[in-house]
Amino acid sequence: MTGAAGQVGTDLVPVLRRRHGQEAVIAAWHRGRLADEVAESGPAMELDVTDPAAFQDAVAANGITQVYHLATLLSAAGETDPDRAWTVNLGSLRTVLDIARRSTVERLFWPSSIAVFGPTSPRHGTPQETVLEPTTMYGVTKLAGEALCRYYALRFGIDVRSLRYPGLVSYSRFSGGGTTDYSVEMFLHALRTGSYRCFVREDTVLPLMFMEDALRATVELMTAPAAAITVRGSYNLTALSFTAGELAAAIARRVPGFSCTFEPDFRQAIADSWPATIDDSRARRDWGWRPRFDLDAMTDAMLEGVARLGAGA
Ligand code: SER
Repeated sequence: MTGAAGQVGTDLVPVLRRRHGQEAVIAAWHRGRLADEVAESGPAMELDVTDPAAFQDAVAANGITQVYHLATLLSAAGETDPDRAWTVNLGSLRTVLDIARRSTVERLFWPSSIAVFGPTSPRHGTPQETVLEPTTMYGVTKLAGEALCRYYALRFGIDVRSLRYPGLVSYSRFSGGGTTDYSVEMFLHALRTGSYRCFVREDTVLPLMFMEDALRATVELMTAPAAAITVRGSYNLTALSFTAGELAAAIARRVPGFSCTFEPDFRQAIADSWPATIDDSRARRDWGWRPRFDLDAMTDAMLEGVARLGAGA
């Protein structure tokens, strides 16, 4: 797994180690720091995914059969450094797809995002196949990446699978650099200081998902029979859509005295360009996707987890 020090990797490594064995999953990271549980529970290595030779060597030396390629710059970080977003997000995907053509790699997971959509996509019930005109470099790399995955699947038979993750809400590791970060920050600040200045408007609606659902979706997709996978770009995936104000209210019901103010910054425009609700019926039909966490269950689990772990921030 690349990006193993990131928000998804931190939680996905332990899930995969439980499934495949502690020694079978190599946690590769470049920036930041691996979570203690990840570093201590199995093999780890430092890997710069923008170095094709190093990536190739890591796969060959370890006889890797599956790659979860999670290393990425998120949407807000990508606006700060679009060149680097292109190189990390897309250059490294091309590298790993090419590695898969001539190595032991049999299956590949690469996450896409709601960021592939843009202001011209339908905002409600956004379909699987629709207008895709993203306005962030992050979205551009995800859109091009989906096209690359589809091409490598069709042309070279690479078994690459992908999900358009919604904003992911979790407590083990704070992502940083994303537009949906306000959702996680709100929990952290509620428990630390009792107040939060939210960087999107109160009425901002985005599709969000509790990490446990996202991890289960990832495993279900990766263990589905190849014949069931009819989308080789990336699957729409959704659980919940709610406003920033509704989230603040759900937290305030459980954290007495919590107050939230709303002061939008440049990330508002990014949020406004993304869908409010998503149609994920293809994932439901092809491999049986069903989310489990609603807003109340997620809020309870987040408050309990943040209180225990502090969101790794
Ligand atoms: N959570 C991501 C972001 O906000 C979207 O994929 O950038």
